[in-house]
Amino acid sequence: TVPEGVLSRTTSGRPLVDQRPRPRRNRKSAAVRRMVRETSLTPANFVYPLFIHDVAENAEIASMPGCERHSLPSMLAEAQDAWQYGVRSFILFPKVEDELKSNRGEESYNPEGIVPRAVRMIKEALPESIVFTDIALDPYSSMGHDGIVEDGKILNDDTIEQLCKQALCHARAGSDCVAPSDMMDGRVGAIRDALDAEGFTDVSILAYTAKYASAYYGPFRDALDSHPGFGDKKTYQQDPANGREASAGRAYIEAELDEAEGADILLVKPGPPQTLAETTSSRSGLPYLDVAHRLRQSTSLPVAAYHVSGEYSMLKAAAERGWLDERKVALETLLCFRRAGADIILTYYAKQASKWLMEEPDL
Ligand code: PBG
Repeated sequence: TVPEGVLSRTTSGRPLVDQRPRPRRNRKSAAVRRMVRETSLTPANFVYPLFIHDVAENAEIASMPGCERHSLPSMLAEAQDAWQYGVRSFILFPKVEDELKSNRGEESYNPEGIVPRAVRMIKEALPESIVFTDIALDPYSSMGHDGIVEDGKILNDDTIEQLCKQALCHARAGSDCVAPSDMMDGRVGAIRDALDAEGFTDVSILAYTAKYASAYYGPFRDALDSHPGFGDKKTYQQDPANGREASAGRAYIEAELDEAEGADILLVKPGPPQTLAETTSSRSGLPYLDVAHRLRQSTSLPVAAYHVSGEYSMLKAAAERGWLDERKVALETLLCFRRAGADIILTYYAKQASKWLMEEPDL
């Protein structure tokens, strides 16, 4: 028994810990918890990545159960299906046939290429949708890199010329937001100028402000057959050990390169969105939530985060074995992205999570 005098007693003699603030009062019922909840999760937060290819049949992606490489008609059907659960935003990733790949990735700005056709198809059927398109050479590169290769090196500025053509091609097809994921220096400003010069001032840029050389992209590269042909992506994607370069707002550095006296100055310059990327994002995921949080604190722009393929696959694998409750863990994960500061989440769970939220809105 507890020695006399350790605990106080209520007037009726029950034990009483001498503590006035009791945080549990704000958790005492579902209604109270809902009332004080800081973070919400709705389909409006999601961007649904769709893999596409120019083949009549869909193909399974072994390392990403539940995802498929879609034919264009199937892509549209999937977008329409997701739409009925509240998903409004999509991002397209093409698998390109080997014959169409080259070092300079010319296919990336073919107006009749798979991405422009897919964009036109979705925008025609779902004009209120938000279609994002990825800007990078990797699906089109015979070298399996995001940029042009010369003597084993990735050429920065030559690549940007191609990326500008790619962005213009997507804009002409009706892309609402181009999303450079290549990590070349200076591409956000160059793409902005290229778009503006052709009158596409309304086309947004989602800048991959922080994108790490992560091993979590493996299943994505399976899906697109886009594994690096040699080496790795460490000369352009960031070192997982580093956080400061992200929080200093690479988007700003890039957008204002021509003004900055020397590109290595860490320039944080919150300014009018029209001169900058509309959205910054950390292509990162759970192990990088600190980066999403740093971005959130260093900019007033919306912040996006990518719940990447490897994280999706890990969760699927554990769920298949019955080791984790897929619904609970997936929704918790997405909520945690929001809590860390992401307004927008790119996730392969977009449709499924929206469905779950519709069935049972309280996580
Ligand atoms: C293309 C790109 C990649 C991802 C998004 N855009 C792959 C890469 O950089 O190798 C990864 C997304 C995921 O793993 O889900 N540059």
